[in-house]
Amino acid sequence: MQRKLIVGNWKMNGNFVSNQLLLQGIVAGVRDLHQADYVLCLPYPYLHQAQSILQQTNVAWGAQNLSANEDVALTGSVSPSMLVDNGCTYVIVGHSERRILSHETDDTAAARFNAALKAGLTPIFCMGESKDERESDWTEYIVGRQLDSIMRRFGVHALSHAILVYEPLWAVGTDMPATPSQAQEVHQFIRKRIARCDEHIAKNARILYGGSLHPNNARDLFAMPDINGGLVGRCSLDAQAFVSICLSI
Ligand code: PGA
Repeated sequence: MQRKLIVGNWKMNGNFVSNQLLLQGIVAGVRDLHQADYVLCLPYPYLHQAQSILQQTNVAWGAQNLSANEDVALTGSVSPSMLVDNGCTYVIVGHSERRILSHETDDTAAARFNAALKAGLTPIFCMGESKDERESDWTEYIVGRQLDSIMRRFGVHALSHAILVYEPLWAVGTDMPATPSQAQEVHQFIRKRIARCDEHIAKNARILYGGSLHPNNARDLFAMPDINGGLVGRCSLDAQAFVSICLSI
């Protein structure tokens, strides 16, 4: 039985003052919850702030991206060991906003995935299709390709140290979440594809749903058998909404 997981993705939001209130609010709200693991992924400049507030709590923290390289001349990049230095244990890899806006490809996402593993970080690997791709019936082809980009390069065992996320692009930031059955169908597809290589890893894989998760829809999505938690964007910027999603699992 997989342990459930709720991840907050703050994206490019926050400042020292608002973060302190938000972090303290979330800590207070999940302090007595034991049904899942909780993680917050913050912008780089606030990782140290997260470390000072979240250490000794049941909320872990991580980053939203990382460089695939260590110790090279790469202006503006942040290496895996720098994340470890800031106490991170997780890092998001291959989020659709980076795939689209920063031209992340299967190759570059896979390199970052591997760099995270090598540094001892748990990659939170995002996959998902666009609206056009869904309407053309390409969902399984796209998600399968993204999943294979990891399994082919690093073997199925790499997945036992990662978190997978199904995050359809048309549901991110839109208030149009996938229905529980739409999400379940893709989660089941992902699990079955892993099972073709290793049934044990497939059974234990933690596959999160992301895209317009909200206190109003979380319970129904989390009730699906192959959904093991969520990646929460906007609602992770409001302590009450985030805690209420955590209570829905
Ligand atoms: P959203 O974002 O919950 O605001 O749709 C989710 C994400 O992009 O991780």
